[in-house]
Amino acid sequence: MSSPVAYTLDGDIAVISIDNPPVNALSHAVRQGLLDAVETFQSDDAAKAAVVAGAGRTFIAGADIKEFGKPLADPQLPHITNVIEASAKPVVAALHGTALGGGLEVALGCHYRVAVKGAKVGLPEVNLGILPGAGGTQRTPRLVGAEAAAEMITSGRHMGAAEALKSGLIDHVDDGSDPVAAGVAYARKLLAEGKGPRPTRNITARIEEAKQDKGLFDRLKADAKKKARGQLSPVVCIDAIMAAVYAKDFDEGMKIERQLFQDLMKTPQREALIHAFFGERAVGKVPELKDGKPRKVEKIGVIGGGTMGSGITLAMMNAGIPVVMVERDDAAIAAGRGRVEKTLQGGVDRGKLTPDRREWMLANLYSGTTDMNALADVDLVIEAVFEDMGVKKEVFTKLDAICKPGAVLATNTSYLDINQIAAMTKRPEDVIGMHFFSPANIMRLLEIVVADKTHPDVVATAFDIARRAAKVGVRAGVCDGFIGNRILGKYLRVAQMLVEDGATPYEVDEAVVGFGYPMGPFAMSDLAGLDIGWMTRKRKAATRKKEERYSADWLDRICEQGRFGQKTGRGVYIYPEGARRGEHDPEVLQIIDDVRREKGINARKFSAEEIMERYMAAMINEGAKVLEEGIALRPVDIDVVQITGYGHPRWRGGPMKHADMRGLDKVLASIRKFEAEDAWFWKPAQLLVDLVGRGENFDSLNRKEV
Ligand code: 3HC
Ligand code: NAI
Repeated sequence: MSSPVAYTLDGDIAVISIDNPPVNALSHAVRQGLLDAVETFQSDDAAKAAVVAGAGRTFIAGADIKEFGKPLADPQLPHITNVIEASAKPVVAALHGTALGGGLEVALGCHYRVAVKGAKVGLPEVNLGILPGAGGTQRTPRLVGAEAAAEMITSGRHMGAAEALKSGLIDHVDDGSDPVAAGVAYARKLLAEGKGPRPTRNITARIEEAKQDKGLFDRLKADAKKKARGQLSPVVCIDAIMAAVYAKDFDEGMKIERQLFQDLMKTPQREALIHAFFGERAVGKVPELKDGKPRKVEKIGVIGGGTMGSGITLAMMNAGIPVVMVERDDAAIAAGRGRVEKTLQGGVDRGKLTPDRREWMLANLYSGTTDMNALADVDLVIEAVFEDMGVKKEVFTKLDAICKPGAVLATNTSYLDINQIAAMTKRPEDVIGMHFFSPANIMRLLEIVVADKTHPDVVATAFDIARRAAKVGVRAGVCDGFIGNRILGKYLRVAQMLVEDGATPYEVDEAVVGFGYPMGPFAMSDLAGLDIGWMTRKRKAATRKKEERYSADWLDRICEQGRFGQKTGRGVYIYPEGARRGEHDPEVLQIIDDVRREKGINARKFSAEEIMERYMAAMINEGAKVLEEGIALRPVDIDVVQITGYGHPRWRGGPMKHADMRGLDKVLASIRKFEAEDAWFWKPAQLLVDLVGRGENFDSLNRKEV
């Protein structure tokens, strides 16, 4: 097999080119090829300097993540970076595309770094539950200082070439677009100026500087801990950077880094985060995309300018697609435009958007009207009117009459039957659910709900829009609540039951936050408005089965007092003077006590572990039912929905991955235990029972062809 690394000569400059599509990941063959090429360069008297570059669309995007979890074969990357750095002749890294992780570490091992304009660099290992393990935590602080290195490494963010130049990470930004030409020109300039190798390990000024700041690492560690919310790797990254400053020498620092890297490699968090990484890519593989072709979308109509309509409008404008927003009357369209303007202004205030760009976006990407006929020429309509079947049906009947043939007609409904909505048109094949999450301009999840007659091209169009708007599209089938809200309904019920049985809502929220969620279910309900759930419960009261336990009386009573959460200053929590974080409310605890007394419930204590055992079991059991019914294609689709739309901690990998890691037999045993208390609610999913019976896990279903 030919090596993915080529060694050629451009006059007296050696060009070492890595060609391992799609992203030049550092597989075993690439590592071996790179080492061989560097050794060839050392012994090639015709070569005075070398350039390391990537072929195709990028430099090197990092280690080959697919090799993680298995023993890594030699040569290892830290050794290769050390060999490059020890070269007696100068080596220049020429960056384009994305130089990430191990890719940037190779570049840091080189003596000089040049980049073409659009190049990006970064050390994103933290997002995979590990740390830069090939000298990234040792060499970066030498170039940019310990504090800036900590920011870069613990955030994992990508940095543009201009910023990388300013920070000291790279030496030159080339105006051209050819990295090899840029690298060769830079190498020639070095030779002409008589400059030789400049090993990064020998640059120590920034290290000495960091030593002067005695409290630096306490500060960095406290900050990393706070932001990590239970994730290990950001904090361990700081330990590794600390070794760059305090280890007795560079090699000792490298050893410490490697040990910490290997320790993190063994953690369940690493496994979970890599599952999430590949999961976000796997969800884009759906049966309809095999034949479906995206339709051209150059203009979008959004109906409704409320919370969702304005958020969706912003999401589309951010993707550079012009939007016409339609509302019921002048006041409503003024309010809709106001929401869009306010959010854009927020971007200006935070320095994310220039005032000129805001003006340009409003002038070129936004128009508002009360006339539905304005939708005659749009390629895609996204309806976000009230969650009421009558209103939705009326809107879709009108759309059928107004929109041009081939226009995609999407609804943002949270729960309603999209087949019924599609049936209002003579073109049900063009109708689809595009379920955005609030705030729609920020949340990454887009559930793409495929109805019975939806055409594959329409599915492909929705996935294409997700991609253009930098969202993660996940395919769902039609049912009450699709994937996410249907599962949410179950664990919210568990939360209510836990309170009725003895936990306080504050204990439930604390347990959920302790598990790694940004917010507990009751703080979340206060934010969304308690009235939404109250209305739904009232609507469903008539059809509620008699076996079903009702455990929301305490919440109903809070609502009866006009306490709907943040917007009324009081809900499950009290919000003094518009505060976003609520305080515990003794009156709520009194209401709960009263309800328990009236219902004859003896309150008992629940530990945080017991709370989470039930909360997660409900999520997993319903997830299994969603799979069984084909509403979600694979377990990983549910994981991605929960991580990108519902705040599930990414480092736990999603509820289905969490179940696999805990052991499905243990999860089933928990459900059986709860089933003894409430057989109706806790009926185990047949799929779960079958998987346990066969000794298989959810992940076995991820590998199946869809
Ligand atoms: N290893 C293996 N496969 C990788 C990979 C990697 N590092 N990076 C990307 N891929 C695969 C993807 O899974 C995808 O495969 P598919 O087509 O079969 O689904 C394909 O390459 C293309 O990737 P994307 O769809 O993500 O392409 P984009 O153009 O949207 O993004 C990217 C490109 C920015 C490079 C993005 O893929 C990315 O962020 N990759 C991960 C980068 C990373 O985390 N690097 C650090 C690795 S850990 C490390 O280096 C350890 C070291 O410190 C020792
Ligand atoms: P909202 O009440 O904030 O906005 C609805 C808007 O639709 C109002 O501004 C109203 O004037 C307008 N409207 C009603 N009938 C109309 C018509 N015939 N023509 C034009 N405009 C009309 O409601 P929200 O929260 O934005 O929800 C909209 C839809 O999005 C609902 O289906 C909801 O279930 C769904 N959704 C809501 C989420 C949320 O978090 N609020 C999340 C995801 C989906």
